[in-house]
Amino acid sequence: MTLKQTPMKAKQAEFKDKEKPAQIRSSNIVAAKAVADAIKTSLGPRGMDKMIQDSKGEVTITNDGATILKQMKVLHPAAKMLVELSKAQDAEAGDGTTSVVILAGALLEASQKLLSRGIHPSRISDALLHFSTYALTVLEDMAIPVDLSDRNALLHSATTALNSKVVHEHCGLLAPMAVDAVCRLVDPAKDTNVDLNDIKIVKKLGETVEDSKLIDGIIFTQKTEAFGGPNKMEKAKIGLIQFCISPPKTDMDNTVIVRDYSAMDRILREERQYILNITKKIKAAGCNVLLVQKSILRTGVSDLALHLLAKQKIMVVKDIEREDIEFVCKAIGCRPVASLDHFTPEVLGTAELAEEIRAGSSKLVMVTGVQNPGRAVSILLRGSNRQVLEEAERSMHDALCVIRCLVKKRFLVPGGGAPEAELAVKVSSYGQTLQGMDAYCFRVFAEALEVIPSILAENAGLSPISTVTELRSRHAKGETNAGINVRKGWISNIVEENVLQPLLVTSSAVTLAAECVRSILKIDDIVHVIN
Ligand SMILES: Nc1ncnc2c1ncn2[C@@H]1O[C@H](COP(=O)(O)OP(=O)(O)OP(=O)(O)O)[C@@H](O)[C@H]1O
Ligand SMILES: [Mg+2]
Repeated sequence: MTLKQTPMKAKQAEFKDKEKPAQIRSSNIVAAKAVADAIKTSLGPRGMDKMIQDSKGEVTITNDGATILKQMKVLHPAAKMLVELSKAQDAEAGDGTTSVVILAGALLEASQKLLSRGIHPSRISDALLHFSTYALTVLEDMAIPVDLSDRNALLHSATTALNSKVVHEHCGLLAPMAVDAVCRLVDPAKDTNVDLNDIKIVKKLGETVEDSKLIDGIIFTQKTEAFGGPNKMEKAKIGLIQFCISPPKTDMDNTVIVRDYSAMDRILREERQYILNITKKIKAAGCNVLLVQKSILRTGVSDLALHLLAKQKIMVVKDIEREDIEFVCKAIGCRPVASLDHFTPEVLGTAELAEEIRAGSSKLVMVTGVQNPGRAVSILLRGSNRQVLEEAERSMHDALCVIRCLVKKRFLVPGGGAPEAELAVKVSSYGQTLQGMDAYCFRVFAEALEVIPSILAENAGLSPISTVTELRSRHAKGETNAGINVRKGWISNIVEENVLQPLLVTSSAVTLAAECVRSILKIDDIVHVIN
C-alpha cells in the first residue's frame, strides 16, 4: 500500500513543478503585453494622445510614452518591468519611449509563440541576445553619418521627435530652439556628451507656445524687489551672494528686553549702520544687480536692506534657489560669494542688460548679452494653459535629448518604420543561415519587428497588412530607406522626406527591449514577501 502511494505523490509533485513556471511566465507575458497594448495607439505622428487624471483631479495631456506609463497605476510586477523599460529608454535616449515598450510587447508575443512550440526559455533568451547583437550591426550598416555642423540634419531629427507631440504644430519654432540650445553648449570637436542641466527650461503661463524663446543668458521667475529701486539695468555688473543682508540672529533663541526709548533708538541705529555698511561695500565693488540666495534661517534681505540698496540704485533679485546657484554662475560668469569680505569686483559677472519684463499677469527678470558666458542657456516656454505648457516642456525635453543623442553618437537612421522593416528583412534572411532552433526563433523575431511599421500605419489610418507587405517587399529589393510617409499615406524614400532620427534612439530601443524580454523569460516564480 505504502509502496504504491509513493510514486503517485512523486508524479504529482513533478507535474506541479512544471506547470507553475509556465503559468507564471504566461501571466507575466500577458500582463506586460497589456501595458504595451495600452500605449500603442499613441505611436507616431498620427498617434493619439492620452488624458491622465491623478488622484487630486489634476489632468495631464500627453503623447510621451514614458510619461503615460509613469503615471499609470500598474500592479503586476512584470508589467512594472515595462514601465521601467520606458524609463531606461528615457534616460538613455530621451525619445523612443513608446516604441521600446511596443517592441518589447511584440518580442514577448513572439516568445510566447516559441514557448508554445516547446522551446526552452533559456534557448529563446540566448537567441534574443544573438538577435539584438545582430540587429545592432544591421542598424549601424544602414546609419547615415551626420556632422554637428549640419544644422539641417539636426533640425530634421528634432522635427521628427516633435512631430508626434501634442504641440507638433509649433515644431517650426521649437526644433530650431532645441538645436541652437544644444549647439551653444557643445564643442563639436571634442564633446561626446551634453549635460542637459545646463539648459534651463522656464515655464510661464500665458500667451501661446509661439511666444516661447531661447535666451542667451538667464531668466529668473522672480520679479525685482519693488522698493523704488531700478528694474532695468544696462551694462549690468551682477553679483551673487549667499550671505544675508539682515540683522544677525543669535544661535539660540533668546529674548532681549529693551526698557527705554534711547536704547531702542541705539539698536535701530546700529542695525541701520550694520546694513548700510554691507550695502556700501556691495556698491563699492561696482555691483549694480544683486542676486541673493534663498535663506531658510533668517530673512535673506530685510526691508531696510532693500530700501538702502534701492537708494544706491542696485537692482535686487532675491530667493535664488540653492540648486540653481551652479547654473546661474555658469550662465552669468559670476562667482557665488559666501562672505562680505570676498565681495570684490572680480566675482561679478557682466551683461549688456538685466531687465524686468512682463509675462502675462506676472513678471520675470531676464539677463541678456552676458560677456563671459559659461556654457549655459535658458529657454522660456509660454503656453495658454497648464496642460499645453507642460506638454511643451516634455516635448522640448525629447527634442533636446534627440540632439544630445547625435552628440553622443553621430549617426542618423531613417524614421517611419524603415529601420524596423530593414531589420526584419535582414534578421529573417540571417536566420536562414543559422542552424536548428535559432533559425526558427529569428524568423519569429523578424515578424515581431514589423509591429512598429504596422502600428504606425494603423494609427495613420492606412491598412497595416498591405502597408507592411509593400514595405517588406521594397526592403527585400534593397530599398533601405523605404518608410511609411504618414502624412501622405504611402510608402516612399523617407530620407527624402527628411524624416530622420538618431541611431541611438533606435538601437537602444532594440537592445533594451530584448534585454527586458530576456529577463521576463527567465522568471519562473514570483515570491511574495510576508511584510
Ligand atoms: N513624419 C513622419 N513620418 C513617418 N513616421 C514618423 C514621422 N515622424 C515620426 N515618425 C515615426 O514615429 C515614431 C515615433 O513616434 P512617437 O514619437 O510617438 O513615439 P516614440 O518616439 O517611440 O516615443 P516618445 O516620443 O513618446 O518618447 C518613430 O518610429 C518615427 O520614425
Ligand atoms: Mg518620439
